[in-house]
This record gives sequence, C-alpha cells and structure tokens, in this order.
Amino acid sequence: PYDKLILCTGGRARRLAVPGADQVPLHTLRTIEDAQALAPALRPGRSVVVVGGGWIGLEVAATARQQGAEVVVVETQSRLCERSVPAEVSAYLLALHRAQGVRVLLGAGVRGFARVADGADGADLRSEVLLADGSALACDTIVLGVGLVPNDELAREAGLACEGGVLVDAQCRTSDPHILAAGDVAVAPNPWAGRSLRLESWQNAQEQGMAAARSALGQAVDYQPLPWFWSDQYGMNLQIYGMPTPAHRVVQRGDPASGSFVLFYLAGDVVQAAVGANAARDLRFARRLIEQRKPVDAERLADLNTPMAKL
Ligand code: APR
Repeated sequence: PYDKLILCTGGRARRLAVPGADQVPLHTLRTIEDAQALAPALRPGRSVVVVGGGWIGLEVAATARQQGAEVVVVETQSRLCERSVPAEVSAYLLALHRAQGVRVLLGAGVRGFARVADGADGADLRSEVLLADGSALACDTIVLGVGLVPNDELAREAGLACEGGVLVDAQCRTSDPHILAAGDVAVAPNPWAGRSLRLESWQNAQEQGMAAARSALGQAVDYQPLPWFWSDQYGMNLQIYGMPTPAHRVVQRGDPASGSFVLFYLAGDVVQAAVGANAARDLRFARRLIEQRKPVDAERLADLNTPMAKL
C-alpha cells in the first residue's frame, strides 16, 4: 500500500539488434562497473571503435585517445551530437576530435559485427565492425554509445501515460496523480525547450527527484528547469544552457581558435540559450541573462572588452 509512489527507474544503454551483436564483446557505459570493465582496454597500441558520436561516444573517444589508444568514431548522422547541439557546435567538436587524431566517420551505418582470427597462427581474436558501405573496421574493443532507453516498462504495464518515458507535469505527477516520476525516465514539459522532453543529466535526476519528493509531501512545486548540460573532453569543458535551435540568431563571443568562446542563441534581443567552451565564468552570466529574459545589445555581447557583468 502507498499514499504516493515515485518512479525513479532511470534508463539503460541502448544496444544494437544487428547480426553478430552476440558474437563480439560490446561495451556500453552507464555504471561504475561498465567503466571499470572498459578502462583496461584503453591503452597504447590498442584500437577502439566507438559506435555513436553523441556525448558518451565523444567522452570515451577523448579518454581513449588520452590513454594512447587508436580511436575511430562511427556516427550514423551527418554530424556529431545532432540530438543536442546546433551544427556549428557539431563542427567544433569534429575539429577538436580530428585534431586529437580521432578518425570520425559521419553518415556511417553499422550493418553488423564479426569475430575474426588475427595473426599467423590465428590464435588472436579481434572484433570487426561491419559498415553499411561494405567496409569493415578491425579493432580490439568496441564501445556502443547509441543513446538511452528509459526504463518505463513498469509504468506502461501499470497503464500510466508514456511517450518515450513516463509523462509527468511540473509537479512530477504522472497520469495517476498518486504516482510521480523523476530523473532519466520522466518526460516533462519544458518551457525553455518549448516541448516535453527527458533531461538526461545527473543534475536533473537530483533536482527533479527532490521536486518529486516535495510534491509527494504536498508542498508547492513548479519544476521547470533551464536545461543545463556539460561535457569534459580532452582539456575542454563544454557547457550548454537552454535549447539552441536553428531558428535562433547566433552571436559569437571569443574565437574557437583561441580555445575559449561562447555562442549565444537569441530570439529578438533576448538570449534564449548559450553554448560555450572553456568559458564557465561567462556562461554563469549567460545563464542569468537567459533566466532574466533581459534584452541585450548583440554588439556588446560579442565584444570581449565588454564584461558580461555589464550586459
Ligand atoms: N550507428 C552509429 N551511430 C548511432 C547509431 C548507429 N546504429 N544509432 C544511434 N547513433 C548515434 C546517434 O545519432 C547519436 O549521435 O549515437 C549517438 C547517441 O548519442 P546520445 O543520444 O547523446 O546518447 P549517448 O551518448 O549514448 O548518451 C546516453 O549518457 O550522457 C549520458 O545520461 C546521458 O542519457 C545520456 C546517456
């Protein structure tokens, strides 16, 4: 029996249902055990194929390169992190990884996997990633970073409304007001994004979890967070506030070649989202601009001589 029930069932790494997927060891990265299993494979002289050029894929690629491994990233879309960043940020990430010696294949589909004998005596076994164009990538290790599957089976069996996760409102309530949900499994309307979505970040898991608990206790809750993501790759820290879209006007502050820059995404004179590399301080001000919905002068925004605090 319960008065209120909170579903925090999270998600799991998506797998690929292609021929040979059960013939080769395939790593995914979600738990500490996954990380511990992968770590020994990332070392000099070893080759790693990363399937998926999203966040997990790129972070694994960066770590593997830093450990001295050879890395190929295979991405089906025509650009990296297509789900979460605009084209100019994808281009920046592509240049970053290529400069670090990662081979990035875009628009490349995986048709299957194979286990092949290697060396004169055929004693060594290697894996192969078979691509849609007929070519094959031989390697020691394969990592899948092809997205997250929400663990919403229980909710669906219980008859709760689900659409790529458990649908909740700003009070974290599902279609049954006595059942709440939070974290990677929950799909919530987000006014900053203008649509309902799952926010796949530990920060959301933490804060939406607290909001769900308060809501279950009958306290006033209005959980509508400004999306915030970050990723560390090589020495670079990338942060994203809000949801940049192609409809926004882009204003650039700083030069990617200098290693530090922020891209602001404006509707009219109002900053709605920002993406920055190695610019944590400017991004904290950007967050304030977004939340205050304060009109800004685009020229001053782009001018490094104008401190963000003065905007
Ligand atoms: N072959 C190659 N690439 C593929 C394939 C495929 N068959 N299927 C999907 N992809 C690509 C997508 O186009 C996308 O670029 O895999 C990428 C997945 O990226 P994300 O959606 O960002 O997911 P992922 O990187 O796996 O992250 C999953 O990890 O960062 C955490 O919690 C966060 O939920 C997130 C989880």
